[in-house]
Amino acid sequence: MQKNVILVTGGAGFIGCHVAKRLIELGHDVVIVDNFNPYYDPSLKEARIATLLKDLPFTLYRNDIQDEHAMRKIFDRHKPNLLCHQAAQAGVRYATQDPFAYGQSNLMGTLTLLELAREFQVQGIVMASSSSVYGDAAHYPVKETDVTDQPISLYAATKRSCELIAYSYHHLYNLPITCLRYFTVYGPWGRPDMAIFSFTKAAIEGKPINVYGQGEMARDFTYIDDIVDGVIKALQVNLPWAVLNLGRGNAEPLMHMIQLVEQATGEHLEKRFLDMQPGDVKQTFADASLAKERLSWEPHTRLDEGVAAFVAWYKKYYGA
Ligand SMILES: NC(=O)c1ccc[n+]([C@@H]2O[C@H](COP(=O)([O-])OP(=O)(O)OC[C@H]3O[C@@H](n4cnc5c(N)ncnc54)[C@H](O)[C@@H]3O)[C@@H](O)[C@H]2O)c1
Repeated sequence: MQKNVILVTGGAGFIGCHVAKRLIELGHDVVIVDNFNPYYDPSLKEARIATLLKDLPFTLYRNDIQDEHAMRKIFDRHKPNLLCHQAAQAGVRYATQDPFAYGQSNLMGTLTLLELAREFQVQGIVMASSSSVYGDAAHYPVKETDVTDQPISLYAATKRSCELIAYSYHHLYNLPITCLRYFTVYGPWGRPDMAIFSFTKAAIEGKPINVYGQGEMARDFTYIDDIVDGVIKALQVNLPWAVLNLGRGNAEPLMHMIQLVEQATGEHLEKRFLDMQPGDVKQTFADASLAKERLSWEPHTRLDEGVAAFVAWYKKYYGA
């Protein structure tokens, strides 16, 4: 891949920071935009930038992607030829507390970026989408051709909307865009609102955990390094238009993940079994054969290896 100027939005976030690191190491000029919002402890975002990107060359802007004026200046100054759009209001459950954050960051933020990408003639866009667009699917594993018009959370509705808006920009302005539907991404520097993080924290602090769906949920846990591989490949291949699943292709029972957290921490977790939360799907399970075919992407990391790596990072970072 030739040397590119790549704008990474959400570059202080979990996935964005890992992607930025890999891109810088590959020799690209990386420009990061992140607003360091307090959805979860911003000190973790600061620490990702300070630690993961330590001694690496990059440019950082602390801006909101919805701020068209500020974003136009950034596009104008750096003239990125590729856009790697990871910024979003993530999380399914938080939408009941702050629905407008989803409309603002996901819808208006994405629209602002697409509009600037068109104006500044960006040559390729890779956008983060989500397995949540499948809702409670009629069958598993889910394929990109499956129905995605019944989102069961506002988060999913905004992520699917972003794909639709992206298609219209591809169609109207010939912008090459790949939307990647990530499946439950986890690993070192992961998000505190996600289950592996909170279960590890509880195990180390000797606290009980809430297990929703009475422990009968399953997730297609996909390790961060595999996701980063997929994002890099999507940027390299730069398909004219694609929506691709990036998932390991395994529906792991939640209880199995909990067992692995117990093994890796050496602690027993006291479990409180509760009903499903609104917006949660029972299962995620990807058919990722299209990503394999179009990007030669293949995930490699087993769940036990990934959980052990996460727990090792957690202990080191929090001095546990
Ligand atoms: N982690 C997962 O399992 C998962 C699964 C499916 C999809 N995704 C998607 O992947 C992307 C990255 O997710 P993540 O897990 O790294 O989440 P994250 O919250 O760690 O990262 C998102 C980053 O974007 C920033 N951000 C949010 N709104 C912004 C705005 N308006 N302007 C500027 N910056 C803003 C946040 O400060 C944060 O640093 C998101 O688009 C998310 O929807 C993640």
